[in-house]
Amino acid sequence: MYTLFVVGGHYGDEGKGKIVDILAARADVVARGSGGNNAGHTIVRNGRTFKFHLLPSGCLYPGTINVLGMGMLIDVHALVKELAALRDVGYNPKLRIASQAHIVMDWHRAFDAASEASLGAEKIGTTRKGIGPAAEAKHNRKEALRIADLKSDELFEKVSRIVFRIAPKLVSWHPDFSGFRDLPLTDIINPREALKFSLTQYAEEQAGRLREAAKVIMPFIDDDIAAATGSQHNKFVLGEGAQGTFLDTTVGSFPDVTSTPTTAPGLCIGLGIGPGKVNDVMGVFKAYETRVGSGRFETELTDEQALLGELGSGRMLMDSGSIASLRKGTASDNIIGKHMVVKGHEFGTTTGRVRRCGWFNLEEARRAVQYNGLTWIAITKLDVLDELHTIKVGIRTENEKMAYKTFSGWLSSTENLRNQEALPDKAKFFLNFLEQQLAPIAFVSVGPDAGQTIITKNFRNHLAKNGISI
Ligand code: GDP
Ligand code: IMO
Ligand code: MG
Repeated sequence: MYTLFVVGGHYGDEGKGKIVDILAARADVVARGSGGNNAGHTIVRNGRTFKFHLLPSGCLYPGTINVLGMGMLIDVHALVKELAALRDVGYNPKLRIASQAHIVMDWHRAFDAASEASLGAEKIGTTRKGIGPAAEAKHNRKEALRIADLKSDELFEKVSRIVFRIAPKLVSWHPDFSGFRDLPLTDIINPREALKFSLTQYAEEQAGRLREAAKVIMPFIDDDIAAATGSQHNKFVLGEGAQGTFLDTTVGSFPDVTSTPTTAPGLCIGLGIGPGKVNDVMGVFKAYETRVGSGRFETELTDEQALLGELGSGRMLMDSGSIASLRKGTASDNIIGKHMVVKGHEFGTTTGRVRRCGWFNLEEARRAVQYNGLTWIAITKLDVLDELHTIKVGIRTENEKMAYKTFSGWLSSTENLRNQEALPDKAKFFLNFLEQQLAPIAFVSVGPDAGQTIITKNFRNHLAKNGISI
């Protein structure tokens, strides 16, 4: 059996979905291990676009088992919708959902939004999918519901106990309870008559909605997903990471991070696959870098406010003068960053927000190699750099300033190239540098479509040695 994990090397949206979809063609199992529908993974096949948030990116192959692992935080209503949308277009994936995964509840979404609104300029810029509050509930252990609870005859009692326990938070933060905000604090902390009716009604409604979702999900609930991922009948198990290394709660750019692990060790935990059972870990990186939401970004180019203004007025386009300046090497940082947004279509899959863009940060990428134990890398969106006269890579921070290595751009389209040899010499030079600094390159992606991909000979041979032909 060969087990490969694919994880995000920087701040998410590196193109994991595309890479996982290509590999999934040969996989027996594709498994998500952490995160929730804060993730947005895009697959483009023959011009058709699919966006997955909770479903693993193996869902387009009828024979593949798709696992939603133990470390996930699952909004079951969002999952039902995502599955229905996929079935509407003719796909009926095989699913296994870990009973140990946690449920993101309606109130978690409300708390996420209220918390962000209360933070003002200090907000994290979350996806508002309730991930932080659901993780909080998991870790305090007293306010959490798991997928296993959908099978319980006492679902209402469980929901109701939690709803009464979190009454103070509901009154402060849930819009449905705003009418109770003037009550004396003692009534809120100890919800008696004043709140009893509304809390019970809310718990009934929430439990009812969960029961409806459970009708769809029940057949897929699995108490032992490790039996699926660890079966001796599997030839190829693929673990699909969500988010990126530096959004990890522990090793990421705290506090501007997500609330679940995003690295390969996190996938091990979320999938119940011990580190010694993982054969390879592939880190996906863009040829540049993006980030959505708040937080550090040493190599950032975009003037986010200016771009938001242009987006608001519906005129975010590159004029011919700006494109000429990119080619001549006279463009300002903001023009280069804007070009990355426009050509790379850097708008969030989950929230539609404009992504902040900048140069590849090698210093972080090296740390990603260490944290994840990367044995391979994939470089995506090389085509986005095709028009640039000069390309930079941030190599190290000196006196709090980033030092850059500069590369000459290749100034020709890579979109239709399908093998390594055909790449322009200057692109080869750029890629060789990344490979030498990080890990061998398995994929170079030159466009959103699955077909717009170069698979290196090195990686093909490696897979072949493991009995997989791609
Ligand atoms: P993920 O979260 O890591 O799966 O990445 P997303 O799907 O959120 O974002 C990646 C975006 O880049 C998607 O819109 C992809 O269709 C697109 N994409 C992936 N690879 C390439 C590429 O090589 N070139 C271009 N132009 N777009 C790409
Ligand atoms: P994929 O899997 C990019 C970011 C949010 C925010 C921070 C916390 O598509 O790469 P959260 O809602 O998780 O509490 O938000 O994390 N974030 C992502 N950014 N890609 C993602 O997933 C992300 N998931 C969360 O923008 O900065
Ligand atoms: Mg994404």
